[in-house]
Amino acid sequence: MSTCVRCGLSATRQRVVIGSGPLTARLMIVGEAPGRTEDEGGAPFIGPSGKLFFALLQEEVGLTREECYVTNVVKCRPPANRTPTPKEIETCRPWLIEQLDRVSPRFILTLGNTAGRAIFAYQSGIGQVHGHVYRSGKIQGVPTYHPAAALRGGPSVVDVMRGDLGVIRRLMETA
Ligand code: URA
Repeated sequence: MSTCVRCGLSATRQRVVIGSGPLTARLMIVGEAPGRTEDEGGAPFIGPSGKLFFALLQEEVGLTREECYVTNVVKCRPPANRTPTPKEIETCRPWLIEQLDRVSPRFILTLGNTAGRAIFAYQSGIGQVHGHVYRSGKIQGVPTYHPAAALRGGPSVVDVMRGDLGVIRRLMETA
C-alpha cells in the first residue's frame, strides 16, 4: 500500500497513511482521509480532530487509541483537504476491504458522512443516521459525526457524539 499509485492523490501526498493499531482490535475506527498532520506524520487522526476524538472515546467507551485499529476510507491526503471523489474512494476500496479482512473487527465506528456512506451505504445524511446500529454478519457498526464537525460546531456536536459513543459502548458490553 505504501507505494500505491492507483490514483492521482499519489502525486501530491507525502506519505500513504495506512492505519494504526493492533490487528486483533475489536473496534475499527474509519475516517475520511488524512489531513495535513497525518500526511506529514504517516498515521491517522494524529491532528486536532484526532485529539478530540480519542479524548471522547476514552471518556465514553474507556478505550485508548492503541486498543483500536484506526484507518481512513482514502489513504492519501486530498489537496487542500477536499472531500475525496467517488472515483478515489472506489479506487482505494480494495485496501480498506483487505484491512477489514485482516483485522476482522466485531465493531466499526465511522466518523463523518464519507466514511459512513462508504461502509454502510446509506444515502441520507449523518444527521439522520448517526447512532443507528448497522449489522452485517458478525459485525455491528455505528456512524457518528466527524470530529472536525465537532471542532467547528462546538459543544452540541460533542454531546451528540458522546451519545453515539454510548451506543457502541453498550454494544461492546453486551457482545
Ligand atoms: N480526518 C480524517 O478523516 N482522517 C484523519 O486521519 C485525519 C483527519
